Amino acid sequence: MSFRVLFVSLVTTAFCGLPAFCQSNKPVSAKQPPKHDVAASSRKEHKEDLAAVARGHEQFKSTCGFCHGDDATGNRAPDLVRSPVVSRDEKGDRIEPVIRNGRPDKGMPAFTTLKQNQIDDIVAFLHHQVYEAIHSSHVPGDYPLAKLLTGSASAGKAYFNGPGACSGCHSVTGDLAGIAAKYSPIDLQQHMVYPSREEQRTAIVTLANGQKFEGKVVHNDEFRIGIVARDGWHHSWPKDQVKIEIHDPLAAHRELMEKYTDADIHNLFAYLETLK
Ligand code: HEC
Ligand code: HEC
Repeated sequence: MSFRVLFVSLVTTAFCGLPAFCQSNKPVSAKQPPKHDVAASSRKEHKEDLAAVARGHEQFKSTCGFCHGDDATGNRAPDLVRSPVVSRDEKGDRIEPVIRNGRPDKGMPAFTTLKQNQIDDIVAFLHHQVYEAIHSSHVPGDYPLAKLLTGSASAGKAYFNGPGACSGCHSVTGDLAGIAAKYSPIDLQQHMVYPSREEQRTAIVTLANGQKFEGKVVHNDEFRIGIVARDGWHHSWPKDQVKIEIHDPLAAHRELMEKYTDADIHNLFAYLETLK
């Protein structure tokens, strides 16, 4: 399990272990419509088709359990019960695209042969697991809830302006001003760790004959690179036949994420939470 995924899972659990966090409603700026959050899904009227949940569990065990654990709490791949993707899903809108497209660059294959009803059952099963987790008072003893909430805002501030070098790219009176009011705590953590879900990388691909193409990366796995070039066309090539230069505006931010210790993250989060 990668550090980032683990971290996001811990955070989600931590906030939902605390009813005060789950139910607090932060003001949301007018520009940014409120997002679905775990609190919303726990308040949602609870209607379940238990037959679908049972079918979904069987399907999940055989198709997904190897990586995500038979009960979806994670194995060699992330815990899905505490996944923000799952907790914010509405009727499969977030889960289904992950199943159909996979995350080939991160180790999850695309499942192209599952039928719609099989996916619906898996979605029902995952929602059931989330519901059970939120509504049971059991908090796993092995995650650092206390540590997370005792992060020091002043240490976070010092890290932000000092060794974290965040201030090289961000300003708390500029782009990050009011960030804690813009996002719920869970979303803020998520945006700090995964700044953007949208692909921002661009690539210059040089063919054997010297011709160059430049554009936004839309596909990148072990074997192929795909871009949408300036002319608006989608192009893709086998990687071993072209030269590729990738430019990733978030690369520096991502690299930093790998260097944080847990304490840094908790402190930074405590600091960012003061930016209301
Ligand atoms: C070969 C291992 C593997 C299998 C099999 C697999 N996954 Fe995954 N899955 C992963 C990995 C690795 C990730 C994390 C990808 C990342 O870091 O973005 C992931 C991520 C996810 C996520 C997103 C979690 C998040 O919070 O970002 C969902 C949802 C998901 N998988 C559902 C499923 C379902 C449903 C199945 C079965 C149909 C399945 N996976 C089968 C490896 C697998
Ligand atoms: C080399 C530049 C760089 C550094 C250093 C950097 N970031 Fe970022 N960060 C970015 C970029 C680029 C984005 C994406 C902005 C966007 O998508 O609007 C981003 C996004 C974010 C976001 C989400 C903002 C939003 O509105 O969704 C947060 C929070 C954040 N960074 C926190 C930090 C913290 C904390 C540090 C220091 C530990 C840090 N960043 C270091 C470049 C950087």
